[in-house]
Amino acid sequence: MIAHKASDITVTVVDLNAARIAAWNSDTLPIYEPGLDEVVRSARGRNLFFSTDVKGAIAAADIVFVSVNTPTKTYGVGAGRAADLRYIESVARTIAEVATTPKIIVEKSTIPVRTATTIQEILAANGKAVKCQVLSNPEFLAEGTAVADLMNPDRVLIGGERTPEGEAAIATLVSVYARWVAPERIITTNLWSSELSKLVANAFLAQRISSINAISALCEATGADVDEVANAIGKDSRIGAKFLKASVGFGGSCFQKDVLNLSYLCEHFGLPEVATYWESVVKMNDWQKHRFAGNIVKTLFNTVADKRIAVLGFAFKKDTNDTRESAAIDVVRDLLVEHANVVVYDPKVPAAEILHDVSGKGVTPNPRLSVASSAIEACAGAHAIAIVTEWDEFKTLDYAKIFAGMQKPAFIFDGRNITNLAKLREIGFRAFGIGK
Ligand code: UDX
Repeated sequence: MIAHKASDITVTVVDLNAARIAAWNSDTLPIYEPGLDEVVRSARGRNLFFSTDVKGAIAAADIVFVSVNTPTKTYGVGAGRAADLRYIESVARTIAEVATTPKIIVEKSTIPVRTATTIQEILAANGKAVKCQVLSNPEFLAEGTAVADLMNPDRVLIGGERTPEGEAAIATLVSVYARWVAPERIITTNLWSSELSKLVANAFLAQRISSINAISALCEATGADVDEVANAIGKDSRIGAKFLKASVGFGGSCFQKDVLNLSYLCEHFGLPEVATYWESVVKMNDWQKHRFAGNIVKTLFNTVADKRIAVLGFAFKKDTNDTRESAAIDVVRDLLVEHANVVVYDPKVPAAEILHDVSGKGVTPNPRLSVASSAIEACAGAHAIAIVTEWDEFKTLDYAKIFAGMQKPAFIFDGRNITNLAKLREIGFRAFGIGK
């Protein structure tokens, strides 16, 4: 977006992974994201370059955005909750090794609070006496709407040291975003506020979904309708209408990771009650995913063994091919444990990805699991349909035709509340939503 909006700024994207860089230089970009092709095409070869020359690009740069991944640690202290900072550290060491001119180093990756200190210390201990400033500039875009979010962000957040050098670095980065973002939307803070705000923003968003999902179960028990409740409370301007859509559970690379990371930080700083409070957001989400699969089994007369179940959607939300932490993974696994024959269809996720997400990399996929190339094919002969991702095409399927080709009674479980349950019941389906 910087390259697209500011033709006088040269942006070089570097990665050690040559295949990935080749893909960025090809006609088929490695990520599916609406509008991304146009943005890349507008600038590539002009002032946007993709390269594997990491050191050369760092040496030439005035500003270095550190955008490496910070997955959840899988080993040692904090395993399963803390962020793994090995890639951040390795980038800091590379910068220290090759920098001969002062640079502004921008933390773009989502990281625990006080990571800037790590980068500063590594630079100070290894650098060739080059003065670098470290800024925090967390990314708030959501997948599926990344281009629109970058084009028109609610806010850009820049944190830095409150010293004259720090303020100067902040002003430089502000001037980059100011090319297309209104000044009142560019917020500057101290480093720690900025680092923490990213985790807290995601925790608050995830908390809203877990809250409405908790209420969805109460709605089902009482006869209330969760969409009506969400609409009624969302009209209160203090609550607001967004992120109150009850679902089979949130997924994605950020929410679970960041909430667990926040909770781990709280524990680290001697605040176990605060840690438990935030962890419950993730626990509620796990519960909701299992509740959805459990409801399918219960409703299908307490057994799905050898029954064909069509799972529509596998990505963690619509308009992305990303499956990280997708609710679909847990739902499919739960159904396989009950010996269902599960047929998955997703418009953008490749079959191989679905198979190894469910079974694990390198593991022979469960023979009860298969992937269809259309929704119609997945539903043919099925006992039940489970809608797990809210892809638009699932709203307008010919459900009468699908019903005709299914076992009877034919069940449909809409984990995203995107279908008209009353119409489905008219066709003959036994239809269930979330919180309905
Ligand atoms: C999130 C944050 O929104 C973004 O600001 C941050 O930079 C990265 O993490 P992302 O994970 O891409 O973005 O997707 P998001 O739109 O937030 O959705 C996350 C999950 O919550 C999805 O599985 C989505 O389907 C689910 N969701 C969202 C709901 O179940 N109900 C809602 O009301 C909203």
